[in-house]
Amino acid sequence: MSTGKTYSGKEVAQHNSRETCWIIVHGKVYDVTEFLDDHPGGSKIILKYAGKDATAEYEPIHPPDAITTHLPPEKHLGPVDPGTVLKVEVEVTDEEKARLERVANRPSLSEILNLHDFEAIARMVIPDKAWAYYSSAAEDEITLRENHAAYHRLWWRPRILRDVTTVDWSTTILGQPSKMPLYISATALGKLGHPDGELNLTKAAAEHGIIQMIPTLASCSFDELVDAAQPGQSQFLQLYVNKDREITKKFIQHAEKRGIKALFITVDAPQLGRREKDMRQKFEAEDPDVVTTNKHEDKVDRSQGAARAISSFIDPGLDWKDIPWFQSITKMPIILKGVQCWEDALLAYDAGLAGVVLSNHGGRQLEFSRSAIEVLAEVVRELGKQRGLKFPNEKFQVFVDGGVRRASDVLKAIALGANAVGLGRPFIYAFSTYGYEGVSHALTILNEEFEMNMRLLGARTLKEIVPEMLDTSSLTSHIVSVPGDNLFNTNYESMQHARLRALQSKM
Ligand SMILES: Cc1cc2nc3c(=O)[nH]c(=O)nc-3n(C[C@H](O)[C@H](O)[C@H](O)COP(=O)(O)O)c2cc1C
Repeated sequence: MSTGKTYSGKEVAQHNSRETCWIIVHGKVYDVTEFLDDHPGGSKIILKYAGKDATAEYEPIHPPDAITTHLPPEKHLGPVDPGTVLKVEVEVTDEEKARLERVANRPSLSEILNLHDFEAIARMVIPDKAWAYYSSAAEDEITLRENHAAYHRLWWRPRILRDVTTVDWSTTILGQPSKMPLYISATALGKLGHPDGELNLTKAAAEHGIIQMIPTLASCSFDELVDAAQPGQSQFLQLYVNKDREITKKFIQHAEKRGIKALFITVDAPQLGRREKDMRQKFEAEDPDVVTTNKHEDKVDRSQGAARAISSFIDPGLDWKDIPWFQSITKMPIILKGVQCWEDALLAYDAGLAGVVLSNHGGRQLEFSRSAIEVLAEVVRELGKQRGLKFPNEKFQVFVDGGVRRASDVLKAIALGANAVGLGRPFIYAFSTYGYEGVSHALTILNEEFEMNMRLLGARTLKEIVPEMLDTSSLTSHIVSVPGDNLFNTNYESMQHARLRALQSKM
């Protein structure tokens, strides 16, 4: 509870130890002494800012209200006199100077011709921490590459001599209008890449009439993202289920009240996949000695990277038997995000759910998961056989995500029976390099690609994109490496190995 007084920076600075630890966030003083060992990111990082202003470190990886919701009111001490605050000196390293120079030399947006271009620029200009978190995937990143490669195994059988003067690729997704058969999938920690974080996506989604799925772990607060929506703009919510079901219940019911149109429960992350790029970045960023002692002092090993630090609350006990509980607490359509075989799609259908997202989390979870487009073909076949369903289906909607980089990829999924397709990384790379204008430009590119592809395929509406237009004969032949794919290889950063520590003497 605020004591009603305004603190001076000098007074805060005295509380700079494990025994008494105060920090300043957004101009307010908090006593975090007792919270140190409960911090999901470990105590070390808080202690670095003990007695100081921690806002710059706090902001990218926490929603603004995280500290006020997790800390009891009596630990919210009150405002600080801004003129008296100890500034944490941030040394601009030579590497950072070089990065800023690369930022200044980005090509103009008009030179960005496709979604791969954003990734290539992001790799060169965004901060290392952001690149490591965004681009990383599980283990050897085979699934990450397969997600993209799978679309190369589908070839068109277009139709000719159809009047394609007017073509229309708009649709509805779970009853909500969308100008394209795609949506912005949930990706966490938007502020690592850009100070406006996920707000860039909200604004561009409104402008282009598409739907944004808000992540549980957004850097912006949930309400901030809902408040930023235009009248009539539809938003979905991605949910990580908390071990404390009361917290989850409150969040779901609050979201429904705020007008969220569908709930996507993530079911492929009972434990985080090993994302070694992200982990290695942490190792290199910290003093190696600190990292090794960390394991004993902190409840959480910081060497696991940004992902591990933010996700310890997710419940690995989530089970099919919990589904009726979700259905009893909300009227929003419920969709399972992260289904990877027809058997689970069938269980979701039989449980009365509104749909599934066939997804392997952008290759970030189980390594050697198959691509969603391959799973789509078997889901359509088996649910057709076993329940007589036809796809695309309005009552039980099927979405795919992972590796989609072109409108033609989206149309391939539509041809195979998907209702719509999710894109994750392309939009993060777009805002991390060019902010909201980047996302808007990415959506303009996709619109142009849709128009061209619809005409060249001889399809005037999405209904005319049919399975017969695709040669799927190679779909299930898994190819691990794509040596000839230079386009992808220029953007893809290959795996790094462990490195020697600075050598004391010559070997
Ligand atoms: C940086 C990053 C963060 C993500 N965060 C989440 C998340 O918090 N919750 C979730 O359900 N999926 C998350 N995903 C998975 C995406 O929703 C989506 O399934 C995936 O990005 C699709 O693959 P793509 O990046 O190749 O388009 C994340 C993906 C990335 C790349």
